[in-house]
Amino acid sequence: MDFTFQNPTKIVFGQGRISTLGTELRARGLCRPLLVAGGGSIKRNGVYDQVAASLKSADIQWAEAFGVRANPTLAKAEELIAQAKAFGADSVVAVGGGSVIDSSKSVAAGFFLDNLWDAFTGQARPKKALPLFTVLTLSATGSEMNGIAVLTNEATAQKWSFFSPACFPTVSIIDPAAQISLPWAEVVNGSVDAMSHIMEYYFARQTQGTTLALNDALLKTLLDTTDALQKDPTNYELHATRCWAATLAFNGLSSCGLGGGEWLAHGLEHSISALYPQVAHGAGLAVVFPAWCDYFKDSHPERFARFAALFGTNDTAEGLRRLRARFAAWGAPQTLEDLGVKPADLPALAAKTMEMGRLGTLKTPSAKDLEQLLRGALRVG
Ligand code: NZQ
Ligand code: ZN
Repeated sequence: MDFTFQNPTKIVFGQGRISTLGTELRARGLCRPLLVAGGGSIKRNGVYDQVAASLKSADIQWAEAFGVRANPTLAKAEELIAQAKAFGADSVVAVGGGSVIDSSKSVAAGFFLDNLWDAFTGQARPKKALPLFTVLTLSATGSEMNGIAVLTNEATAQKWSFFSPACFPTVSIIDPAAQISLPWAEVVNGSVDAMSHIMEYYFARQTQGTTLALNDALLKTLLDTTDALQKDPTNYELHATRCWAATLAFNGLSSCGLGGGEWLAHGLEHSISALYPQVAHGAGLAVVFPAWCDYFKDSHPERFARFAALFGTNDTAEGLRRLRARFAAWGAPQTLEDLGVKPADLPALAAKTMEMGRLGTLKTPSAKDLEQLLRGALRVG
């Protein structure tokens, strides 16, 4: 299948390379960024100090906005846009994981929009954005090298996304050493998310030999490095290997020639973390992705067989059992009950997912399908 691949993000990868941030901005004539961050992990692990030292040495003046939460909100992004305007920002520097980067993309594009949410509903197609620089502290989403942002609109309980070519970061710095401070659960969430990005494409309509081979390798790398990090959590080389696999999992390479992926499991998870913001995206996927496989595995047996082969079997049900066992060994949640999702909310979760439209390529699901799928995820067995 024909495809176009374009990814303009410059990646600066390696230990100590956060020190290049200031010169990357200066080289582009930028000197007034809004620095966006989360709940403060960067103050505790030394990343903030490295960022500040680099900006200072390049004589850059910045404004700071902490407080982006996991599963970030539209309201916070709107507040940040107002701050960026008041400061006269010429760029945005995101220091954090996917939530911080997605909020920063929303600021970068929203700076030029009358109504940011219009980008998420498709009523606006952002054509320009402030230049965005990211210092990644959690490898999971691939947001550091794609043009996607995901936010929750709390007023409508919708966790939706938009893509704009203008929202690819200009430069992303990935220092794997910055991830040694991650709590184990976040490493697991990150690996499950990155694996899910690849797995969403396993069931695509088309095939492309190189893309499929790359995806097998990425999936295997994420499985192996996560296993190894569980025993050796401060190993730099393992972090570095895992980080790069997670970036490549969702920067456009893993979908070339496949004609689009599934994305229904992602849609369902977004509905869950919109209603239950304490549920991390990767944790939700650890429950929903296997449940999705269970529900749809008979629609495309050959694709599921290839997937099972990665787990050393040609039997789909056994492959799925091994995937679940791997997630369980890492300590990931296994059921909706583990996530704290109430059975009474399943119809609302199905309805919210239906509102997203255009999910699922194997079979167009009905609200009833989705409710039944979720019901299967309430308990193990
Ligand atoms: O807020 P702080 O204090 O920084 O703590 C964070 C947060 O509590 C912590 N953390 C991050 N780096 C750390 C660290 N703690 C210690 N040491 C470090 N080095 O980790 C927690 C989770 O961070 P978050 O950014 O929420 O995680 P993640 O990167 O998994 O991002 C998840 C968000 O991205 C969306 C998800 O839906 C969710 O909202 N996604 C974005 C995508 C995209 N833009 O392409 C695609 C994905 O499928 C996904 O939907
Ligand atoms: Zn994801």
